[in-house]
Amino acid sequence: MAKQSQNPYRHPFVRWIEHRLPIISFFEHTLKHYQVPKNLSFLWTGGFIAGFMLVVMIITGILLAMHYIPHPDHAFDSVERIMREVNFGWLIRYLHANGASLFFLVVYMHMFRSIYYGSYKSPRELLWIIGMIIFLIMMATAFLGYVLPWGQMSYWGATVITNLFTAIPWVGDSILEWLLGAPYVGAPALNKFFALHYLLPFLMFLMVFIHVWALHTNGSNNPTGVEPKTAEDTIPFHPYYTVKDLLSITAFMVIFAFFIFFAPNFFGEPENYIPADPMVTPAHIVPEWYFLPFYAILRAIPDKLGGFVAMISSILVLFALPWIDRSKVRSLTFRPISRALFWVFILDVIILGWAGAKPAEGNYIIIGQFATAYYFIHFLILVPLVSRFEKPSGLPESLSAYYKNSCHD
Ligand code: HEM
Repeated sequence: MAKQSQNPYRHPFVRWIEHRLPIISFFEHTLKHYQVPKNLSFLWTGGFIAGFMLVVMIITGILLAMHYIPHPDHAFDSVERIMREVNFGWLIRYLHANGASLFFLVVYMHMFRSIYYGSYKSPRELLWIIGMIIFLIMMATAFLGYVLPWGQMSYWGATVITNLFTAIPWVGDSILEWLLGAPYVGAPALNKFFALHYLLPFLMFLMVFIHVWALHTNGSNNPTGVEPKTAEDTIPFHPYYTVKDLLSITAFMVIFAFFIFFAPNFFGEPENYIPADPMVTPAHIVPEWYFLPFYAILRAIPDKLGGFVAMISSILVLFALPWIDRSKVRSLTFRPISRALFWVFILDVIILGWAGAKPAEGNYIIIGQFATAYYFIHFLILVPLVSRFEKPSGLPESLSAYYKNSCHD
């Protein structure tokens, strides 16, 4: 009875629901009353766009799965049928295929934003780690999905990457056979990849829920990296950030629509419009653009196992970032040396991506090797050293003070 009297709603139906499941007050709290730093830039709308893209990918994926046949004899043709005969099949497929690229673009920006503003630092380490787990699942999902159309690049990409497991001493061959259900990429593997490609996005959805839960526990970081202290430093999420998120997503959808309607194969690989042929190896096997930096690291080491370990380490090192960076100051705005290093790091990742797209020969390999070496030097030597000794400059007393004393707004 006491709970009924605390029920703040007037409408009898809303009161009825709230009394049994306090979901209305939950959403009111998380959207309306939730206090957020007042200075979040448009970069803080990336998480919302990523969440939107996850939903788009799940819906279009389910629609595609209704017409797709996961068998080597039918997969390629079933995709062609979706494109030509299924009502709006072309739109659903282009939304899904281009959506994958734009989803990665948004998540990479979200990650680089978090790195620049030190959002991985205490007390948000777990939020960062959950984000990294989402990133791993996302990479696995994209890799598995790319195999499904069963084009030349699907087949040979899957063959090259799954073959890496054979580099593991003693148990490598058995692991590969267990993964593929055969010693090579064939019907059992395609069926398995389809099942997992359908499943993993739902796991991602669950992880995103936990990600946002962790976010709401300590609140958002902000461009100054200084925690809000007084009521003056914050504003309610609604209407300020609901409107900002909506503006961002509208702009994003214009870009998304441009690719779908005017350049639907921009991110695609022509080779993948040729049905998979185990007897014909393509001249250059390249993954999608979002894997290229990691692919360059894999190829930089002239040993299969070494390359595999380097590639895995390049991802694992990101998990440790909250402990690698020792500085107490979050935002790179107040850490000039670290800020310069950040931009050199971005350049290094771009060079890695470029090298990964080139044939594995001559100078391309050497450039890839230098860029790989720098990648690890950045995280294992430069960041730990500089973050320990660098003196911050211009760090404000409080979030509001920063905007009062200067013209940053
Ligand atoms: C499907 C993928 C993802 C979704 C839907 C998602 C969603 C969100 C949302 C809604 C926010 C709050 C708004 C914002 O700060 O932009 C957020 C914050 C954050 N995310 Fe993600 N995220 C995803 C992937 C990742 C990844 C891969 C990482 C890093 C490895 C990451 C790290 C963070 C961090 C550190 C914050 C806190 C930022 C701050 O407060 O400054 N997220 N995420």
